[in-house]
Amino acid sequence: MISRRNFLRSVSAAAFAGSIVHPLLNWAADEPSLAIPGKEGLIIRSYRFLDLETPVEYFNSWLTPVEHFFVRNHMHEPSTLDPTEWKLSISGEVDKPYSLTFAELSELERHSVVNTLECAGNGRAYQSPKVPGVQWQKGAVGTARFSGPRLRALLERAGVKSVGKHVMFRGLDEVPGKVPPFIRSIPIEKATDADTLVATHMNNAALPKHHGFPARALVPGWIGAASCKWLTEIKVLEKEFQGNFMSPAYRMPNQPVKPGEAVKPEDTHPVTALTVKSLISTPSDGATLKSRVRQIQGVAWAGEAGIVRVEVSIDGGASWQNAQLGADQARYAWRLWHFNWKIPKAGDFVIAARATDSQGRTQPSTPVWNPSGYLSNSVDQVRVHVQA
Ligand code: MTE
Repeated sequence: MISRRNFLRSVSAAAFAGSIVHPLLNWAADEPSLAIPGKEGLIIRSYRFLDLETPVEYFNSWLTPVEHFFVRNHMHEPSTLDPTEWKLSISGEVDKPYSLTFAELSELERHSVVNTLECAGNGRAYQSPKVPGVQWQKGAVGTARFSGPRLRALLERAGVKSVGKHVMFRGLDEVPGKVPPFIRSIPIEKATDADTLVATHMNNAALPKHHGFPARALVPGWIGAASCKWLTEIKVLEKEFQGNFMSPAYRMPNQPVKPGEAVKPEDTHPVTALTVKSLISTPSDGATLKSRVRQIQGVAWAGEAGIVRVEVSIDGGASWQNAQLGADQARYAWRLWHFNWKIPKAGDFVIAARATDSQGRTQPSTPVWNPSGYLSNSVDQVRVHVQA
C-alpha cells in the first residue's frame, strides 16, 4: 500500500523528471501535464485532493481502462488500507446490525454491472457565468465493469425495519481540518435495486486505491457522488442523511433559473440520475484533417435511460444526420457511436453531436445554467480544419 507521503513523493519525483507529456495532451499545453503513477496522460485538475480528468480522445473503447479512468476526491485518500483489518458495518434501522471482514465480503455472490460513472460537475467549465467547483471540461466520466455483492443481500441479512427509508454510506477519506466528512445517502428503493452493489472489482481486477479499494458503493445510472469509495459504514436511516454532501452540495433547482440567479435551499432537490449526453472522441478539437473520408466517433449515455439516437452535424448544428450506434450495450453503460463523413471540400468545420434517450430527452444546444453547474449536457462540438 503506498502511503500518502510516498505517493506525494512519487508525484513530485515525476514533476521534477521533466514534463511527461502524453502525445494526446500536446494540444492541451495550457493544462498541467505531470504524471500520477498509473494514471499517466490524465489532466490534473487538483493535486491537493486528487482530481484527474480523462482526455476525450481516450473514449474510444466501450470499457475505459483503469489507467484512463477519471478520479474525483473531495478530500485525502485514506493513507493506509489494510484489507485484513478493514471492516464494513451495517447498522441503523435494522433488526440485526453486524459487520463484515473483507474475507467475508469476498465470499458473497458477486454480480457485475457495466456502468457509466459521471461526476455531477462534469462540463461545469462551460457554465456561464462561471460557478465555483472543479472546472471539469468533458472527461469526468468513464465506463467500467463493476463487480461485487448486491447491497440488498447485505441489507437483507441485517433485516431492514419498515421505518428504514434511506441508506447512508461513509467512506474512510482522511478529512482535513474543517472539511465535513464524505457521507451521503440514497433512498431505500435504489439501495435495494438488484444492480446496486458493494463493488470490490473494477474491470475484473481488484478495485484500485484511487477508485475505492477495498470496496465502494456502486449506484448505477446515478451521479458519481452516490457511489461512495473506501466504504466502511452502511447505515439505514428513517430520513435522508443531513450533511454537507446532501445539502447544500449536490442539489439542483426545482425549476429552471436565470444564469447567475441565487436559489433558495428549499427550492432545490438532490441530484440523482444522470441525464442524456454525448461526446465526440475523434477528431480532436482543433485537428487538421488531411484525408477526405473521416470517421467521427464518440460515446453517448443517459444514466438509467437508454440511448435511442445520436445525430451528427458537420455544419455547426444547421443540419443533422444519424450516427451508427456500436453493438456493445448494457443498461447503465454508454454506447459507442460513429459517423462516416465524406468531406465535401477543404475548409473549417464545426462538428457537433447530440443524443436522444428512451425518456425522450435530447441534449440542449447550449449549457443550462444552475448555481453549481451540475449535469451540464449541452451538445458537444469540435472545430476542425480540412486541408486543401
Ligand atoms: N467517495 C468518497 N469516499 N470520497 C469522495 O470524495 N467522490 C465521489 C464518489 N465517491 C468521493 C467518493 C464523486 S464526487 C465521484 S464523481 C466519484 O466518487 C468518482 O469516482 P472515481 O474517483 O472512482 O472515478
